[in-house]
Amino acid sequence: MNKDCVLLAIESSCDETSAAVLKNGEILSNLIANQQIHAQYGGVVPELASREHQKNIVPVVSEALKKAQVQLHDLNAVAFTQGPGLMGSLLVGTSFAKGLALALHLPLIEVNHLEAHVLAHFIPEYLPDGTLKPQPKLPFLCLTVSGGHTQIVLVKDYLSMEIIGETQDDAVGEAFDKTAKLLGLPYPGGPLIDKYAQHGNPHAFTFAKTTMPNLDFSFSGIKTAILYFLQSQTQKNPQFIQEHLADICASIQKTLVDMLMAKLIQAAEQSNIKQIAIAGGVAANSALRQALQKEGQAREWQVFIPKLEYCTDNAAMIAMAAYFKYQKGLFASQRTSPYARLQ
Ligand code: KG4
Ligand code: ZN
Repeated sequence: MNKDCVLLAIESSCDETSAAVLKNGEILSNLIANQQIHAQYGGVVPELASREHQKNIVPVVSEALKKAQVQLHDLNAVAFTQGPGLMGSLLVGTSFAKGLALALHLPLIEVNHLEAHVLAHFIPEYLPDGTLKPQPKLPFLCLTVSGGHTQIVLVKDYLSMEIIGETQDDAVGEAFDKTAKLLGLPYPGGPLIDKYAQHGNPHAFTFAKTTMPNLDFSFSGIKTAILYFLQSQTQKNPQFIQEHLADICASIQKTLVDMLMAKLIQAAEQSNIKQIAIAGGVAANSALRQALQKEGQAREWQVFIPKLEYCTDNAAMIAMAAYFKYQKGLFASQRTSPYARLQ
């Protein structure tokens, strides 16, 4: 009965092709192939993304198995990201997982990409003294912030989550990337804003924030405010961006992080929950990580910040989410298909 569980997981929802191998809840390998091709277009081109996934998927899966020292016949299940994401990209991972599961007579596990970002917190990590890094206790709140989503999630159980607030327009990652584009920075601009902001003054410029009722967010207004600000400044001084890049980046980053933190604090107060986590690509942002630590200390929260490798898209989080489903016997049929939007 106490048989090993060896899972292969595949993530292909956007522009990262990733494969991971998990054994009994521990990650043995997590390989990620980034697609550089999109940088020249200033954003992800869906058709090119799916073609890149087709090129990458076999080598990435082979490498993940090799690194984990696992053979195909050792596998007990195959997991894949079902959605949300780009349909063409999702189809590559889904078709590959279905084909492999069919050929090897293995159960198939479908994973919701956003739940997986949250469940990345349960990937075991070890402290230098060999003890397990603390993990959130249920129920907890998770601010999931990525290029496609901005949500505050009430995590009641590993597979039972409620979205209690979310963006009504752009995702915060989009706000980072689109404002970076206005500054002439290549895609994805979020990490570059973070980098330049290190040497800038976050109080140099202020941008009017859009306020939303309840726990929802809106980021499209801030993008427009920054556009008008840059247009008026560069009319006066064409070198404005080059001369003030660090201060502009620091000010944009502060505005976005303040908007996120305000709602997270509100959610924590309303729900009286002190276990607070962040997840998703924007959880890699250094100012957000610092702000969470600071508020956590002031408000006696226990905060959970994933390792950088598990913030941006990766298959280890898909494997972890799949492991919870595997333990409950929640398998998909061969008729499963991906979905682009959250259902
Ligand atoms: O979770 P993710 O890899 O993909 C989606 O599911 O969307 O998130 C990607 C997003 C991009 O918008 C990227 O610019 C942003 O995460 N990002 C960052 C940082 N690292 C990644 N944004 C701000 N600061 C960072 N350090
Ligand atoms: Zn993601």
